[in-house]
Amino acid sequence: MGKDIITTAASASDKLNRPFYIKDVKIKNRLTLAPMAGFTDAAMRTLAAEGGAGLTVTEMVSAKGLVYNAEKCEGLLLTSAAEGVRCVQLFGHEPEFFREALKLDCLKKFDVIDINMGCPVPKIVKNGDGSALIKNPSLAAEIVKACAASSGGRPVTVKTRIGFDKDENVAVEFCRTLEKAGAAAITLHGRTRAQGYGGQSDWDTIARVADSVSVPLIGNGDVCEENIGDLIGRATAFAVGRRAIGDPWIFSRMTGKTDSPGLCGTVLRHIGLMREYYGEHYACVNIRKHMGYYLRGVRGGKELKAGLMTIDCVDELIAAVRKIIGQN
Ligand SMILES: Cc1cc2nc3c(=O)[nH]c(=O)nc-3n(C[C@H](O)[C@H](O)[C@H](O)COP(=O)(O)O)c2cc1C
Repeated sequence: MGKDIITTAASASDKLNRPFYIKDVKIKNRLTLAPMAGFTDAAMRTLAAEGGAGLTVTEMVSAKGLVYNAEKCEGLLLTSAAEGVRCVQLFGHEPEFFREALKLDCLKKFDVIDINMGCPVPKIVKNGDGSALIKNPSLAAEIVKACAASSGGRPVTVKTRIGFDKDENVAVEFCRTLEKAGAAAITLHGRTRAQGYGGQSDWDTIARVADSVSVPLIGNGDVCEENIGDLIGRATAFAVGRRAIGDPWIFSRMTGKTDSPGLCGTVLRHIGLMREYYGEHYACVNIRKHMGYYLRGVRGGKELKAGLMTIDCVDELIAAVRKIIGQN
């Protein structure tokens, strides 16, 4: 329980395979899939969970949008059996909408409620949502308190960044405020809002925050196979973002399991899961952005990607994928 940072000597994969707890919810290992709107739908989360991610999180969902039109958010709230722990990420800036949203039946199935306080997108920030809350710690605390009071005992967590403006670093104070308000774990991306996704994630700050709070601190930013050995000991667990796009089996390799179905098998399963969860049209359109990542370095990949742009039938898509990737 608590932040439970592993410092004992053991191999990296042994350490990563140890469970930890967010309040009383057991997370089977130390690797999570960071939420990425437009990518981490139920299909990608299923692949990551099958590959070994201990925790997966939905794409961000508007608390206010849920209250006004929950049906429109159905697709975002889909989860799969492979996700052992179900975690929904909500965004907004009005405590009352979080409170109301948590009364809705469609959120009852989630084991963990995460609040987005890190999104840098101008449209979101302009509304006072996402990373704008870093500039308003008292409102951020009110939101955490409102959620903790309405979650029926389920843990409420926050995902945030180290600061808002360039060179601003308020991570220790802000995360302490969140913990005091009732956050049961915090995922900290080691960049400011001003940095967006550029530059390097500040893991010294992540380690400092991990030392300063007593709840689990999930470090995030540039986590990959090459650096994970150096990062263990600096946070309770590690959220993998962009490196998992086009490579959901990264979790399997990092936890020392190597039973990947291979590139062709993974892409075909991804397409199949998209069709199963969201239908034929969604699968054909949405696999396109993943293909750019899957096909990095694949011979004939460019042609395959270009050819996929016009395919609107899953059987045709599968045949095209088999033809190109099968040969590699
Ligand atoms: C396309 C994209 C969409 C994202 N959407 C979300 C989101 O919905 N919620 C969230 O908390 N973070 C979101 N993020 C941020 C990631 O969760 C993560 O913090 C960031 O990519 C840094 O991790 P990385 O260096 O491993 O990619 C998004 C990032 C990307 C690239």
